[in-house]
Amino acid sequence: VRILIDQTRIDDRSYYEDLDSEDEFAAFRDRYVTVPGEIYLDGNSLGLPPKSTLTHLDSNVRDGWGSRGIRAWMECDWINLPFKLGDTVAPLIGASAGEIVFADSTSVNLFKVVSAAVQLNDSRKVILTENGNFPTDEYVLQGISEFRDDLEVRAVSRDNIAEALKDDVSVLVLTHVHYKTGEIFDMEHLTKTAHKQGSLVVWDLSHSAGAIPVALNDCGVDFAVGCGYKYLCGGPGAPAFIYVRQEIQSKALPAIAAWMGHKAPFAFDSLYEPAEGIARFQSGTPPALGLIALQNGVEMFRNLKIEALANKSRLLGDLFIERLLAAPKMAKIHLGCPRDSKSRGCQVSFEHENSYAIVRALIKRGIVGDFRAPYTMRFGLPALYTRFVDVFDATTAILDVINTREWDSPEFTKQVAVT
Ligand SMILES: Cc1ncc(COP(=O)(O)O)c(C=O)c1O
Repeated sequence: VRILIDQTRIDDRSYYEDLDSEDEFAAFRDRYVTVPGEIYLDGNSLGLPPKSTLTHLDSNVRDGWGSRGIRAWMECDWINLPFKLGDTVAPLIGASAGEIVFADSTSVNLFKVVSAAVQLNDSRKVILTENGNFPTDEYVLQGISEFRDDLEVRAVSRDNIAEALKDDVSVLVLTHVHYKTGEIFDMEHLTKTAHKQGSLVVWDLSHSAGAIPVALNDCGVDFAVGCGYKYLCGGPGAPAFIYVRQEIQSKALPAIAAWMGHKAPFAFDSLYEPAEGIARFQSGTPPALGLIALQNGVEMFRNLKIEALANKSRLLGDLFIERLLAAPKMAKIHLGCPRDSKSRGCQVSFEHENSYAIVRALIKRGIVGDFRAPYTMRFGLPALYTRFVDVFDATTAILDVINTREWDSPEFTKQVAVT
């Protein structure tokens, strides 16, 4: 579905109010904790908390941890939460039940799946990735090639990936939606091309899960990982997920062989024997409170059509882009993401040489986006809690902050640690 914008009303706030009144997801916003008067456009970095997270955490701490102590693992079924949440998320990314587990961080999960992939495809010695992939992905691959010094990391530009898929590539590791530009890779084409060449494929879905449709099973993807704290709204540092295609689960071995991935953790055997299925990709004790918080984030998506959510985000993004690009005095701002919403994730990006200070000035006004070095400002547009009027008000403020040079003050130009 491609929804056309009424260009004649693009500078008219009532147009955005009308779109909100027709929005089938409008009622969801009230189920999240929001700050009155603030426009939060950073759900691509840290999603907002569902209101139910507060009560659910409280009851689990009191009635679970507090009242039951260690027994809560079984009596509250915390021990199975990593798999239950995996099965809830599965339809959002085109996976089947039993193919996903929540554990650790995306970085650690990436280490586990790439180490498994290079072992499965041991005769080949190249790990192929995109030059400019999210830094943790690049670092994890570099780390693997440091201790397996027979392996080489080859990073090429995104346009040259298909061509670089030669018969020495053990595994292709890519991020589906680019963290900075929001550009979507063609998962089906690249996965099939890689498989034809005999390479395995790992996708990082951090900016895809809960944002846009993904078809892991249909594309035949081998492994995937992704964050729980972005669109899935699991909270800061939420557990991440790991997907391993059913058919290779019994052959794949994570280099982190740990007790919760053991066949019988409470047998306390000295020898590691991997659990059947996806369970072997757990490492240590599941982060129960993190999983309990995350449960509320992922339950919000139950019975929703991810395609419909993505369509709303695409329209929000199109309006954001068209309004800024149409503004007369915007000479110094450049589009930093695809203009065509079919090629874009759930975020928009712009480049300006003073992006950092502009983002700081916007935050002071209560409009929360983020900055990615050296010149990018990013604005996330999750469908469940972003309103059309937010796009109008945010773009109005961006134009104002730039045109009046409001950003040009030491208060905004001084760098802080987390951007
Ligand atoms: C594409 C991508 N991968 C991985 C990560 C980092 O994940 P984690 O902090 O869970 O290791 C991020 C964080 O923003 C990301 O954008």
